[in-house]
Amino acid sequence: MFNMEQQLIVSGGKRLVGELEIEPSKNAFLPILAACVLCEGEIFLENFVDLSDILCMREILESLNVHSFLQNGGIYIDARNVRNNKITHEMTQKIRASIFISGALLSRFRNAVVAFPGGCKIGARPIDLFVKGFRALGVNVVEKHGYIYCHGQNMHAGEVIFDFPSVGATESLIMCATLLDGVTTLKNVAKEPEIVDLQNFLNLCGAKISGAGTDQIVVEGVKSLHGTSFSVMPDRIVAGTYLLAAATVGGDVLLKNFRLKDSESLISFLRQTACKIDIKGDTIRLKASGRQPCIESVQTLPFPFFPTDLQSQMLVLQSVSNGSSIIEENVFENRFAIVPELCKMGAKIAVRGRAAHVYGVEKLFGADVSSCDLRAGAALVIAGMKAEGYTTICNVHFIDRGYEKIEEKFGALGAEIRRVNV
Ligand code: UD1
Repeated sequence: MFNMEQQLIVSGGKRLVGELEIEPSKNAFLPILAACVLCEGEIFLENFVDLSDILCMREILESLNVHSFLQNGGIYIDARNVRNNKITHEMTQKIRASIFISGALLSRFRNAVVAFPGGCKIGARPIDLFVKGFRALGVNVVEKHGYIYCHGQNMHAGEVIFDFPSVGATESLIMCATLLDGVTTLKNVAKEPEIVDLQNFLNLCGAKISGAGTDQIVVEGVKSLHGTSFSVMPDRIVAGTYLLAAATVGGDVLLKNFRLKDSESLISFLRQTACKIDIKGDTIRLKASGRQPCIESVQTLPFPFFPTDLQSQMLVLQSVSNGSSIIEENVFENRFAIVPELCKMGAKIAVRGRAAHVYGVEKLFGADVSSCDLRAGAALVIAGMKAEGYTTICNVHFIDRGYEKIEEKFGALGAEIRRVNV
């Protein structure tokens, strides 16, 4: 289904008009799938999103004898006969989220062997915070030949203080503490909404977790978890991508299943442009025409601040806005690989250290470009829709990791994007 040899051909110059329903969040789905390993009953996730990252995680679960199948618009997961197998390099090289499973396996089996994770090449992406956290809970962690061997025979509840609020390490440590006897306190944790979703899911299964969404999470260990039904939160990054696309290209777009509380920093930036924004309940309508004024300064930071996962899309908007802008990347060290691709299309951007200095141009022009990571790929689609002429984007498999049929979604809004096999 996810062909590595595909390209998107984007015909520029069409406005985006119409309605879209926001899909469930990939970044909430992945840890929740990993957390199913903890459950002794059947899980039903009532919504589903067809992404290659989700498929990878299902394959990892299958290797642990955790079966999943799609039905009734959602996905059933059955971990009743879970086995504690080694998670091989072959399985983990595709998604970084594979490392989440280590916390769940430790909690359920007191032992885990997991290969170092892969994922988008947007920085060094070490796993030291996971390892430090596991060690604080008494796990003997040995790193050898590309694997981490986690021996948890002497695991105990305790206190973990994170040096940096890592999303994945926070989620993995929540899972790790869920079936531990006693109370574990996690401090300086990430506050992302996807962590709240994981907490809500686990609590429905019988866990006792509180504090997600703040910088301290308390996990009171329970003996076992049962099955449940759960609806995964909407994808705030996908929503933000569509909003930034409409602001860049122009048009009138209504998004359903939108949650303002997850996207306040983005909306406050969009309010600095000339876009008209109307939010009612769980819908948002954005109308944009002509060039937007530049936003002087955007800095990515952990939630609730502007997300790194929308930085590339914001860079595209600033590239064609009126004025100049400085975009600072503070979460990942290698997230400007899109810049040379945008410059091929006529953008004027100079990268100095962790900041991109953008001088807005009136027009972009179609070019042959390469998607270098998931969000950069989506940003290039936006640039292609704005540009004069045709843009050919290769490495589409990156985009398929996090956007369900992006060409059809934008196509429903009037864009002309073709997927071709090469
Ligand atoms: C998650 C998201 C990803 C998003 C990122 C930041 C998922 C599946 N992915 O990734 O889309 O871009 O949050 O919002 O939810 N770090 C360390 N040591 C560690 C762990 C992380 O130094 O052990 C560093 C990373 O290299 C990075 C920073 O911490 O510079 C943030 O990473 P983290 O919050 O862990 O991101 P992910 O969970 O990988």
